[in-house]
Amino acid sequence: MTRLKNDTFLRALLRQPTEYTPVWLMRQAGRYLPEYCETRRRAGNFLNLCKSPAMACEVTLQPLARYELDAAILFSDILTVPDAMGLGLYFAEGEGPRFERPLRDEWEIRNLSAPDPHAELQYVMDAVSEIRRALDGSVPLIGFSGSPWTLACYMVEGGSSSDYRKVKSLAYSRPDLMHHILDVTARAVVSYLNAQIEAGAQAVMVFDSWGGVLSEAAYQEFSLRYLQQVQAGLMRERDGVRVPSIVFTKGGGLWLESIAAAGYDAVGLDWTMDIGRARRLVGDRVALQGNIDPNVLFAPPEVVATEARRVLDAFGPHPGHVFNLGHGISQFTPPENVRVLVDTVHEHSRTLRTVA
Ligand code: CP3
Repeated sequence: MTRLKNDTFLRALLRQPTEYTPVWLMRQAGRYLPEYCETRRRAGNFLNLCKSPAMACEVTLQPLARYELDAAILFSDILTVPDAMGLGLYFAEGEGPRFERPLRDEWEIRNLSAPDPHAELQYVMDAVSEIRRALDGSVPLIGFSGSPWTLACYMVEGGSSSDYRKVKSLAYSRPDLMHHILDVTARAVVSYLNAQIEAGAQAVMVFDSWGGVLSEAAYQEFSLRYLQQVQAGLMRERDGVRVPSIVFTKGGGLWLESIAAAGYDAVGLDWTMDIGRARRLVGDRVALQGNIDPNVLFAPPEVVATEARRVLDAFGPHPGHVFNLGHGISQFTPPENVRVLVDTVHEHSRTLRTVA
């Protein structure tokens, strides 16, 4: 096994001391980078890019070639899992993801089964192994999945939604069917993430992007419960090395303490809550990842630096912070500002530790 040259990210997730605060950015490989757009053009479309391990590897490495990021994230999408369950994923140009066969009838829901990650999703495992080889121990590789609730939102709605009417109608009127979807999906997520770990992912993250659209009671019943089921099924280590896990519920700030009790090593925060207050609420129980507003990157470079320092100062000099955005980077982000952000996080967090 190769020893990592930079394992700052993994140590921060396990709340061990680090010389500086590690940073990576959600959607760090994406359309704000001209080189990504170029590879995507060659692939023909986004799904071809995800399904080609060589091209997925190429775009995973692009942001790392530009910036001093402390982790790589597998280039893929959360919707590969429902695609492998037979729903027929496609991306309508400029309209986001869509399913040819969304879950509408009871028989479709009853027929759902968890895919074998080594059959329909082998291309993801191949990408993971190829990326690990290419990284050559420079920084750790993050694997990921959508949460059962977030995947179910897309599976029932058939695409993105503004009101979640179909999925919430199902949850309130046929909770038995909703729980069936969530249970099958949770089992799919566990075997998918464990297969990524076996293929070489050194940390895993679960994206609960739409947990925050639920009421507190519905969040506990339809999202958090399945996040716990996923966590309970995850491999804790690989070759004797801990594989830390991160959970991110966008809009979950109000429920931070119960999310922190779900068993994950780290909790991702969106930009709405002050990270210092979040830390006071969770104490030393979990690491925190976040949480600058991605729109700060549209401001002049001095403002980007000031806002980055504000987040670092709010967290303070304690171990257990991974710097990130509060949500994915926008495709309209000026790439120069990403450099300012990453460099400021490294420089300023070093000074925080010398005063401490
Ligand atoms: O972070 C990374 O660099 C890894 C890659 C990654 C992508 N999607 C690539 C992508 C990750 C981790 C995801 C997760 C994902 N996908 C989530 C959870 C995170 C979040 O944002 O809340 C969700 C909800 C999806 C579903 C999805 N995929 C949507 C809604 C869209 C369209 C949005 C858009 O920006 O057009 C996608 C497409 C997608 N996934 C793109 C990328 C780089 C843009 C596709 C393109 O190149 O056209």
